[in-house]
Amino acid sequence: MGPDEALLGDVAGRDVAELGAGSARQAAYLAQVMKPARVIALDSSATQHARSASLYGNVPRLELIQADAATYLAEHPDSLDVAYSIFGAVDFCDPETLLPAVAVALRPGGRLVFSTLGHYSNGAPPATECLPVDVPMRLPDGSPSTLQRWVLDMPVWEKLLDGAGFDLVVSDTVHDLAPDGGKAMTTCLFVARKRGATPEQALVRDEEQRAEI
Ligand SMILES: C[S@@+](CC[C@H](N)C(=O)[O-])C[C@H]1O[C@@H](n2cnc3c(N)ncnc32)[C@H](O)[C@@H]1O
Repeated sequence: MGPDEALLGDVAGRDVAELGAGSARQAAYLAQVMKPARVIALDSSATQHARSASLYGNVPRLELIQADAATYLAEHPDSLDVAYSIFGAVDFCDPETLLPAVAVALRPGGRLVFSTLGHYSNGAPPATECLPVDVPMRLPDGSPSTLQRWVLDMPVWEKLLDGAGFDLVVSDTVHDLAPDGGKAMTTCLFVARKRGATPEQALVRDEEQRAEI
């Protein structure tokens, strides 16, 4: 999934954040093409942050911030209209911490959009409880380590979203055929809206949503 108006809505003039932006390639595209007020590309990794700064440091409307997504969002209430994650921080943070922090940062009626793995990389089905798995990785100095990843069944995500104050707008699975005989992959896609919009705000958002999806 890349940033796309059909999922994110019309972001022109809006405040947007990518959670776990990596090199910030998609955030830079969004900042240049979709004319938001600003896009905040958040990533906790110093290496990724340095990479994004060297590639996209001069893109107008793009702010590159090295921070843990949940910490940053909790410290910036009512500051965003849209937050999205493309196999980003939503995969790698405890959802019971991150999703409430996203709800704090979004304005009422604001939108959270994310793509995440539909199954483990070995093909095993996703967890039916909110539990992470340890994934092997290498630190920048090459030494082996592990990081936690939350690969959850769709009803688990839906319950977590509800508990964090979101109404589900869309949940879907996309099955990618593996090129060249590689492993096929299933992506889960969610669009959710923060509860608490006034009836007028909800009406406008509903009309936008109907026009887009
Ligand atoms: C698989 S990469 C995806 C990067 C990007 N979204 C893309 O599609 O190219 C996951 C990114 O999430 C970042 N990340 C992991 N945990 C995070 C956290 N707690 N807060 C912010 N970023 C985080 C990692 O540093 C990494 O750059």
